[in-house]
This record gives sequence, C-alpha cells and structure tokens, in this order.
Amino acid sequence: MNHNSDVYMHTQLKTSTWVLITGASSGFGEEFARQYAKQGHALVLVARRLDRLQALAETLRQEYRVEVVVEQVDLSDLGTIVRLQERLRERGIAIDILINNAGHGLQGPFVDAPLGAALSMVNLDIASLTAVTHVFAQDMRKRGRGKILLVASLLAHLGVENFAVYSAAKAYVLRLGEALHRELKSDGITVTTLSPGLSDTGFAKTAQMKVTPVLRLLMMPPAPVVRVGIRSLDAGRMSVVPGLPNKVMAMFIWGTPRWLHQAVFSRVMKAQ
Ligand SMILES: NC(=O)c1ccc[n+]([C@@H]2O[C@H](COP(=O)([O-])OP(=O)(O)OC[C@H]3O[C@@H](n4cnc5c(N)ncnc54)[C@H](OP(=O)(O)O)[C@@H]3O)[C@@H](O)[C@H]2O)c1
Repeated sequence: MNHNSDVYMHTQLKTSTWVLITGASSGFGEEFARQYAKQGHALVLVARRLDRLQALAETLRQEYRVEVVVEQVDLSDLGTIVRLQERLRERGIAIDILINNAGHGLQGPFVDAPLGAALSMVNLDIASLTAVTHVFAQDMRKRGRGKILLVASLLAHLGVENFAVYSAAKAYVLRLGEALHRELKSDGITVTTLSPGLSDTGFAKTAQMKVTPVLRLLMMPPAPVVRVGIRSLDAGRMSVVPGLPNKVMAMFIWGTPRWLHQAVFSRVMKAQ
C-alpha cells in the first residue's frame, strides 16, 4: 500500500474546522474541497491519484489560504482506513466534517460482468464507506459533535436494470444514512444523505455508462449538487435529492408502483 502525506503550513493560514473528503481527486469530491476551502475550512483530501490531489491542494492553499493535507489512500483496503485515522490523530487533526463520497458504478448486465467487478463495487461503495463512517463517527462521539455526509444516488431509490449492484449498494448507503441520522443525533452528530442524479463528473466514464440524449439533458454540473449537499448538512437534514428534475423523478418513484417507475427508468437509461 502506497501512502503519501503532505502538510502545508502558512503563517497566514485560517484556522477552522477540519473537513475530510474521500474521493477528492475528481468530480463531487473535488468540488466539495473547493467549496469548503472557500468557506475557510482546513481539508484532508483522500483518493488514490496523488498527482491530482497535490495539484488541487496547491491551488486551494494559494487561493484560499487554508491548510490542506493530502492522503493517498486506496479505500478498498479496509486496513488503510484505520491507519489513516491513526496518522491524522498523531498530527492532532480531529475531523469535524466527514464527506463520505468515494465510490464508483458499473453499467451492464449483471451476469456478463466479471464477479470481481461487482464485488469491488460492493467493497468500495458499501464496506469502505461503512468503515470510514464508523471510524470517524467514534471520534466525533467522543467530542460530542460532528457532521457526516454520505453520497448515495437517485438510483438508490429503486432497483435499476443493468445497474443492479450499484443501485443496491447505494440503497444500502441511503438506509445506513437514514438510520444513523436518528441514532447519532443524541451524540451531537448530524448525518445527511445526498442522492444526486446523473452529474458531469468522472462517474459515467468509470461506470462505462452510455449517456443517452435524455440523460445528457438531465445531467447536472457538480457545483450546485455540492452546494445543496453542504446546505442540507448544515441544516441537519436527513436526506436530500439535489436539482428540480431529480426531485420530480424521486417523487415519481415514491408515488408510483414499481412496475411503472422501473419500466420508465429502464427506458430512459437504455443505450439505444
Ligand atoms: N456523477 C454522478 O452521476 C453520480 C450520481 C449519483 C451518485 N454519484 C456518486 O458520487 C460519488 C462521487 O463520484 P463522482 O461522480 O464525483 O465520480 P468521479 O469523478 O469518478 O469521482 C470518484 C472519486 O472516488 C475516488 N475513488 C474511487 N475509487 C477509490 C478508492 N478505491 N480509494 C479511494 N478513492 C477512490 C476517485 O479517486 P481516485 O481514482 O483518484 O482514487 C475519485 O476521486 C460516488 O459515490 C458516486 O457513486 C455520482
């Protein structure tokens, strides 16, 4: 396991709460880093691609004069999560806000995809997310405060043909977040689950997803999605779906029988 850490100190740095963002090397994670840096928070950026993390860290230090720690971690190795927590503790860094965002999807027929691909999704989207939440929620409980945002998906709200494992994994994230929202409230910890629809990040490429013309129309840029996530976490909401078209789709899912909304979603997401 390859680790690399780097800390930057500056006499003019703002001191504020620490935000840990997983999957900070692109997409939503990168945007969370920008928006929290703009608010003056100190950041711990976690992902595998070190060059991207370092470039982002440097930009944010220059632009916003915030402290940024880069942690190159492959979260699919669960042992690295505990070691990450230990390294941060040794440096005296206590995480006040956790953005549990790293994840990936894969589109295609369940039986055709290699089992390893399905299990790697389960490992990252479910096991690693659970471990990161567990480890940092324990620290937060000791301090009697903290905020945790879990990134689920609109696809968490229904089983989706050709996205079986991903939509099931995100349903887990949604339910975990809802349960922990109540469970951790008395410990002073807010848990919010964000369910974005298709957004313009690295997701579609990694998921080998066919972006249909309808989906392209519905695609959101990451900035407003992240703004909604941060606002909802600050407001202590349990769960949020960002963007009006996504909200309409969520209401359609909640208000119609499964055979109907599943058929419509299959149609919208079909490659041709
Ligand atoms: N974009 C969408 O349409 C959409 C919609 C709903 C939900 N989501 C969810 O949003 C979250 C963020 O995805 P995104 O859309 O921003 O896609 P993205 O641009 O592909 O970002 C994914 C991030 O996860 C990191 N990551 C992947 N595997 C990792 C691992 N093993 N260890 C550590 N980091 C890892 C990646 O960094 P490295 O490759 O550098 O490790 C990257 O920073 C995911 O949970 C995704 O399921 C996305």
